[in-house]
Amino acid sequence: MHSTLGFLLKRLVGKKNKGLPEGRKPEPTTASIQHLAIIMDGNGRWAKKRGLPRTAGHTEGLKRAREITEAVAELGIPYLTLFAFSTENWNRPAEEVGFLMDLFKRVLYDDVMDLQKNNVRLKFIGFRRNLQPELLKLMEEAEEFTAGNTTLQLNIALNYGSRGELVAAARSIAELAQKGKLAPEDLTEATFAEHLLTAGIPDPDLLIRPSGELRISNFLLWQCAYTEFYFTPVLWPDFDRAELFKALHDYTRRDRRFGRVKGGPA
Ligand code: FPP
Repeated sequence: MHSTLGFLLKRLVGKKNKGLPEGRKPEPTTASIQHLAIIMDGNGRWAKKRGLPRTAGHTEGLKRAREITEAVAELGIPYLTLFAFSTENWNRPAEEVGFLMDLFKRVLYDDVMDLQKNNVRLKFIGFRRNLQPELLKLMEEAEEFTAGNTTLQLNIALNYGSRGELVAAARSIAELAQKGKLAPEDLTEATFAEHLLTAGIPDPDLLIRPSGELRISNFLLWQCAYTEFYFTPVLWPDFDRAELFKALHDYTRRDRRFGRVKGGPA
């Protein structure tokens, strides 16, 4: 095993999990990461710096998405969420939107067998409306095909926007209340979370945003209430394994208190 990787594994999952057989999930420890989320940003700037069309940045960005997914699976982190296309991204030039939709279709044709071989479950979080029927069909087939996989759940946020997600959740809860199926006083944070697109997925422990932007851009607003953030000027097409290890190493030094005081009751 790569020595940096071995070092990180030890730090992330604790000594007791050292030498886990491949594919086994680590036991949760206070230092462990269950869910890593990434805003893949900076593709356009990466391409512009090289005098290339923006689409070349997306093609290179896809290579990093594959590299980082592989590394995350090797580390035994059970959930990875990648922000691939936001509800606001429809406002980009039609040519770029068309290129991205074709890229997503190509990923589904080219990568699903590899995901299956590596025991990776694919899930799309986002609105299913406005997507081309061919893409939607491929997404649903890939989700169904990989549904039994357990090493890593890879969530692709595609046509995702968190405010829209929150409004949709509120609407479905209001409908339940109107039908008398849910009493307003029985609505809890846990019930609310079950109505989000991320139902059943633990909140992210760490959110990485490359490209130097210091904002959350309508991504997982509810879910990131206690998430640690890592910002780096590195553009996504340059965000390789070494950059991931840097981010994870930084995370191991964070003191997560979830609103409590240090040394207080658990
Ligand atoms: C943001 O960079 C990037 C996107 C909107 C597209 C992200 C998609 C990929 C990396 C392809 C990977 C796909 C899958 C399915 C994993 P930007 O275009 O906003 O860059 P800029 O801020 O420099 O203009």
